[in-house]
Amino acid sequence: MGKLLDLLKDRYSERRFDPEKELEEEKLELLLEAARVAPTAHNNQAFSLYLLKGEKGRSILSNFNAPVHILITGIEDEGWVREQDSFNAVELDIGIVGTHIMLEAEDLDLKSCMICEFDVEKLKDDLKMPAAEHPILALAIGYASEASKPSKRHFERKNMDDLLTIIE
Ligand SMILES: Cc1cc2nc3c(=O)[nH]c(=O)nc-3n(C[C@H](O)[C@H](O)[C@H](O)COP(=O)(O)O)c2cc1C
Repeated sequence: MGKLLDLLKDRYSERRFDPEKELEEEKLELLLEAARVAPTAHNNQAFSLYLLKGEKGRSILSNFNAPVHILITGIEDEGWVREQDSFNAVELDIGIVGTHIMLEAEDLDLKSCMICEFDVEKLKDDLKMPAAEHPILALAIGYASEASKPSKRHFERKNMDDLLTIIE
């Protein structure tokens, strides 16, 4: 009981990967499979995955020494839209896809860091992305280096009282 919560609490964003340690193909396939089976609104699956191996990802997405990066792009035209307020669920879907990858990585004894801060235009150009696709979220993934440690922010979470309203 409570094993998933232990994993959720132990996880932290890794920004110091071991540059010598490549990621095994089998693990890579499992990470991608975790993304593929993610739930999406109305099951529209309005996303694409880009696997950036080695230097390519390190030059565009992060300088954390990660052996691989996975980029998730959204296809807004294909996203489920709530009629009442025109809310498009694509970005929410991609958050879930990214979370599937992140948790699969933890389960495989890998580390990861989600990344939103990247040069969108450079990515679109470099990867020759179709115009309808928009880069939303990337993950740096690999084995932790010996310098691995959680950042200060990892320990900063709001108290439940600040988050929760109970209505009875
Ligand atoms: C949607 C999203 C985008 C993020 N983008 C970045 C980023 O661009 N660069 C970065 O170093 N960390 C990024 N992070 C990591 C957060 O800074 C980190 O999750 C947060 O500070 C909590 O720390 P922890 O993951 O170690 O618990 C991102 C996290 C999320 C969920």
